[in-house]
Amino acid sequence: MSVVGRHLLPDTARIDGDGRLTVGGVDVVAIADDFGTPVFVYDEDHLRARCREAVAAFGTDSVVYATKAFLCVAMARLAHEEGLLLDVATGGEMHVALAAGVPADRLVMHGNNKSSDELERAMRVGVRHVVVDSFDELDRIDSLVAAGVPRPRVQIRVTPGVYVHTHEYISTGQNDSKFGFNLGNGDALRAVQRARQSASMEFVGIHCHIGSNVFDADNFTKAAGVMVRFANETESAELTLGGGLGVAYVNDEVAPTITEWAAALRAGTADLRPGIRVLVEPGRSIVASAALTAYRVGTMKDIPGVRTYVSVDGGMSDNPRPVLYGSGYEAFLPARSTALRTRAVRLVGKHCESGDVLISDARVPADITVGDVLATPVTGAYGHSMGSNYNKVPRPAVVFVRDGSARLVVRRETYDDLLRQDVTDSV
Ligand code: LLP
Repeated sequence: MSVVGRHLLPDTARIDGDGRLTVGGVDVVAIADDFGTPVFVYDEDHLRARCREAVAAFGTDSVVYATKAFLCVAMARLAHEEGLLLDVATGGEMHVALAAGVPADRLVMHGNNKSSDELERAMRVGVRHVVVDSFDELDRIDSLVAAGVPRPRVQIRVTPGVYVHTHEYISTGQNDSKFGFNLGNGDALRAVQRARQSASMEFVGIHCHIGSNVFDADNFTKAAGVMVRFANETESAELTLGGGLGVAYVNDEVAPTITEWAAALRAGTADLRPGIRVLVEPGRSIVASAALTAYRVGTMKDIPGVRTYVSVDGGMSDNPRPVLYGSGYEAFLPARSTALRTRAVRLVGKHCESGDVLISDARVPADITVGDVLATPVTGAYGHSMGSNYNKVPRPAVVFVRDGSARLVVRRETYDDLLRQDVTDSV
């Protein structure tokens, strides 16, 4: 029934007397008209504010932005300008960050299955450190250094055996995980010993990431406590405690702020030996609520006694999270943001399967009609970055707004882009 929660909208969102929404001083319906739909609209001030909040809460050179949440050249530059390090989990993420001009020594190389090529590039360009995830990777680093590649600084990724309350697919701290070295069975200690003894790497510390979209700050305190004991025991110089702070996606959700997250981690790290640097790797909490996606309603289908389907011009290709994790979202009309959402509908996309649902039980204003611009807030994390070309739907544009102007930072894919990789002269 109610209107969309203010806490789900970007910081600079304003709603005028007629209910029209602006973000960064720019009318959202006008952005949809000018740049087409679907379009991701990011509030640049909001992004910068979250980066600054994180740096203020954790300290300089202690915040590593997890680029998997949202990465393009503009975002890499923004995070770098705000003093964040960047976590890159693949050669592709590293490539984009380097292309954006982020110095290699501001990058942290992640990945549970880094190829020799990925490792070699990370080591040759000189990333700040590599987070080592397996004994195979330790072998690979030995071979690369033996072949003349510069030796890296390394952290050892640890699975601390901590279960958190989140979706199974994004929970990573438990023993049964593809990530890291198991703390409970002694693998983590063996990996640290091996890294320390190896001449082909410099051991600098340990790492964990317990899971993503975690709301209960106690989980972080608990995991930090486990990691603190191991960091003290291994005389680590650095302890990275991962990302994972949840965000509110729907009206009745409330998540801790970055500052509150920092307090929870401080509580958990009280017994850390002095001099050990604590790093964190937030992704979602920096970018999620900075953005909304604007779609256009294309078709409405009322099936009496069943339900009404409202179809927009995107769907699971620009936001696979509802399908993958059953994640909830809100929808509203930025031209009439204060209209009560009295009508129950199912919000779906344009893809050729019934599972292409954005919001199963959406509430929208009763007068919603074909041609309306419809927005879903809190799509800044793991939306664009997990997008696909399913059904050969071109990926949406990304627009940054600030101080009354909108700038295109990722152009919409064209139909020709969809043909770029086809090798048409081979039969
Ligand atoms: N550090 C590491 C090692 C990670 O694996 C991740 C996320 C992060 C940091 C950042 O976590 P965040 O602060 O964003 O929660 N696609 C899923 C989320 C997958 C997260 C994977 N790793 C989703 O849409 O919910």
